[in-house]
Amino acid sequence: MTSTTRRKFLSLAGATLAGAGAAGCSIISGGDTSSGSGPSKIDRPLDKTRTLVTYFSVPETDSPDNMTEDEENSTHIVDGKVLGNTQYVAQIIENRTGADVFRIETAEDLPLDHDTLEDLALEQQEANERPKLKALIPNLQEYDTVFIGYPIWWYDLPMPVYTFLEEHDFSGKNIILFGTHGGNRLGETVEAITEKLSDSTVISNAFTISRDDMDNSEAEVSEWLDSLG
Ligand SMILES: Cc1cc2nc3c(=O)[nH]c(=O)nc-3n(C[C@H](O)[C@H](O)[C@H](O)COP(=O)(O)O)c2cc1C
Repeated sequence: MTSTTRRKFLSLAGATLAGAGAAGCSIISGGDTSSGSGPSKIDRPLDKTRTLVTYFSVPETDSPDNMTEDEENSTHIVDGKVLGNTQYVAQIIENRTGADVFRIETAEDLPLDHDTLEDLALEQQEANERPKLKALIPNLQEYDTVFIGYPIWWYDLPMPVYTFLEEHDFSGKNIILFGTHGGNRLGETVEAITEKLSDSTVISNAFTISRDDMDNSEAEVSEWLDSLG
């Protein structure tokens, strides 16, 4: 990828923000009600023993000291520990629900340098690749509600998340989506996942929060969880 392409992502992100502002929407808050076609609520309280929180997240450093701007953008520090933004949201959901957690990881380590990671992500997207995962959920049959969290990468899902969706059988399950982003909110990822998981109930009330708003995420996530029913 050229730096011209990278600039394109930034300027389009800016355009999205400007558009949202003009429409009078909150531009960085969470609790986005997406236009997906599923129900906006789950039909019963969450049973923590039957609920699994899954997420993909790439914090670009594990050291809280002397971070670059890119590293700060992709991380949130909790008690001195560096978490990815999506990882942090997953942790809040875990704490609030008591559910089990599964982290989606690629078999090969991803580059932590931001530009190198962006280049790789774009190459994978252009080639419609399905990067191999380190592990699959061993006991998916034990869960009937699965949260799936991801960052927006190049306006879309990271390709490893497509691998994750395709290598599991989510049929009959409630699927609840959450994402973090740098300006593009959820893009069309809820629609993409709803189409892909056509035998599941994908809840339309997906959550999104900007990487610039992570300090507010605990309250935003709690409010969203309460709104799920
Ligand atoms: C490879 C890559 C591509 C990205 N593309 C977008 C994008 O198209 N739109 C957007 O809003 N943010 C984009 N971002 C920003 C991330 O969505 C944002 O920083 C997110 O909070 C990262 O989550 P994480 O720390 O859990 O990995 C991109 C980040 C990376 C690393």
